[in-house]
Formats: sequence, C-alpha cells, structure tokens
Amino acid sequence: MTILFYQIAAQLEPNVRSTTGAQEGHLAVVLKSDQELKAQVYSELAANRLAMFLGIPVALGVPAKSTEDNSVVRFASLRAHEDDRDFYDFTDDDPRAEEPPDNAPEGIHIEQGHINELLSLSKIYPKELSYIAVFDFWIGNADRPFNFKAELSKSERGILFAVDHGSSLLACSRDIEKSLDLLSDSNYPKFHPFQKLVNPVYVGQMVERICSMPDWAIESATVFNDIIGNVTLADQYATYSALIERKKLLINIIKPVF
Ligand SMILES: Nc1ncnc2c1ncn2[C@@H]1O[C@H](COP(=O)(O)OP(=O)(O)OP(=O)(O)O)[C@@H](O)[C@H]1O
Ligand SMILES: [Mg+2]
Repeated sequence: MTILFYQIAAQLEPNVRSTTGAQEGHLAVVLKSDQELKAQVYSELAANRLAMFLGIPVALGVPAKSTEDNSVVRFASLRAHEDDRDFYDFTDDDPRAEEPPDNAPEGIHIEQGHINELLSLSKIYPKELSYIAVFDFWIGNADRPFNFKAELSKSERGILFAVDHGSSLLACSRDIEKSLDLLSDSNYPKFHPFQKLVNPVYVGQMVERICSMPDWAIESATVFNDIIGNVTLADQYATYSALIERKKLLINIIKPVF
C-alpha cells in the first residue's frame, strides 16, 4: 500500500527530553464535533479503528480535546499532505451535468457527478474501491459520495484515501436509537457510489476479512470504557453487537454493489 503522509502545520522548539532530536510540532487536522449528529465523534473514531484493522485506506483520526474547553470531545481527522501529489478531489461538488459514457456499466451511481473520474478510479484502484464498498455496507455508511480523494493522473497507481465516517454506525441518523434500527436493517444502505464498479474477487477478500475479524478486535474498536460525547457505554456495546449481527448478514447486505 502506498503510504499516505499527513500535513505538518508547524515545527516548533526541540523536545527537551529527546535524545534523538525530536521536535515539538502541530499537525493539520479537520476537527469534527457532535452537533447535527449526536454520535458523529464516536462513529468517526470507531469506524477509523475498524478500518485500520481491516486495511481500508482511510485518513487516520484521533480523539481530541482543547485546553480551553475540555468537556468537548472532538474527532481530529489528520489532514493528508496533498501538496506534492495530484489528488482528484471527489469531495468537491461537481457542477458538470455529466452523462455516463455508453460503455459504462449499467446501474452505476450517477447522482453525485464525477462520472468519468469514477470510471477511471475503478480501473486504477479496483481493490481499494471494492474493499471500501464492503466496509461501508458493514458500518452502514451511506455517505461515501464526496468523501474520498485519489490520484488519477499518473500512469501507475498512487494513493486513494477515504475520509468522513461521521454518518455511519451510531450516526447513520441524527438519533442514536434510529441509527441502531438502521444498523439492524439488512437492506441498509441501499446504494453505494462504487456499485457496479467493484471486482468480485476483492469484494470476496474483504467479506472474508470482516467475517474472520475476531470479536475482541471489534470490541476494542467500538467500546472505549468511557462516554464519548453523547454515546454511553451501553450504546457502544450496542454498536458492537450490531456489527456482529451485520457480519453474519454481510453477503446479503452488500448485494447492491453487484
Ligand atoms: N483527513 C483529511 N485529509 C484531507 N482532507 C480532508 C480530511 N478530512 C476532511 N477533509 C476535507 O474536508 C472536507 C470536510 O470534511 P468531512 O467530510 O469530514 O466533514 P463533514 O462535515 O462530514 O462534511 P460533509 O457532511 O459535507 O461530508 C472533506 O470533504 C475533505 O475535502
Ligand atoms: Mg464529508
């Protein structure tokens, strides 16, 4: 996997205890909080940890607090270092009213534009695209359009990375209970931006990875032994159980991708 670098925002003074020349510094991050969605921070964090375990290319994120207001928990999505790479920004709005070309697979997701780029993406990154699609169905993420970036211009493969899992898990809906209802629905989500573009071999690989993911690993990614924003421990265990159930139904849940 090509390595994704993150953006250093500031290099400060030397770290006084370091014997190897370490410096203090700041990374650039996108700070997300629980406003519209009651469980966005928790869901970002848990999805990020699950993704790391499974080898899904997502930008890393960490829980964060500021000294000014330590009662607010945020999710800090580490900003990718994009300066020396030519990422196509699928997170941008696409004002072009595009029609899919005649040779495009039938039933692809055209609602969010970027159609030709999506087709190139599926040729350059069949593995990552298939992995992400299966993962999104597992965590109930219906918000993948506009939430990934990829290098498309180079002749060889480069980097594709996903961001924003703030509408998955307990934040599938604004309300935690409604989100759990959606997670118990094997017909949710109903579509995916990578539908009809996946490679069945790679889909199978990710199904296999998720289905063989040990319960302890799912638990350690979803249960934190502390309240995260509005999310109680009971909610966290409910997420864990919902994921175990969705694992059993995964083959049915991912049907819309084919
Ligand atoms: N780690 C990251 N590296 C690079 N860019 C990022 C990262 N995280 C977020 N962004 C950029 O910031 C934008 C907003 O972030 P994000 O999608 O997480 O917020 P949001 O409030 O959920 O937005 P929306 O609801 O519109 O999807 C993204 O669309 C992307 O362009
Ligand atoms: Mg987004």
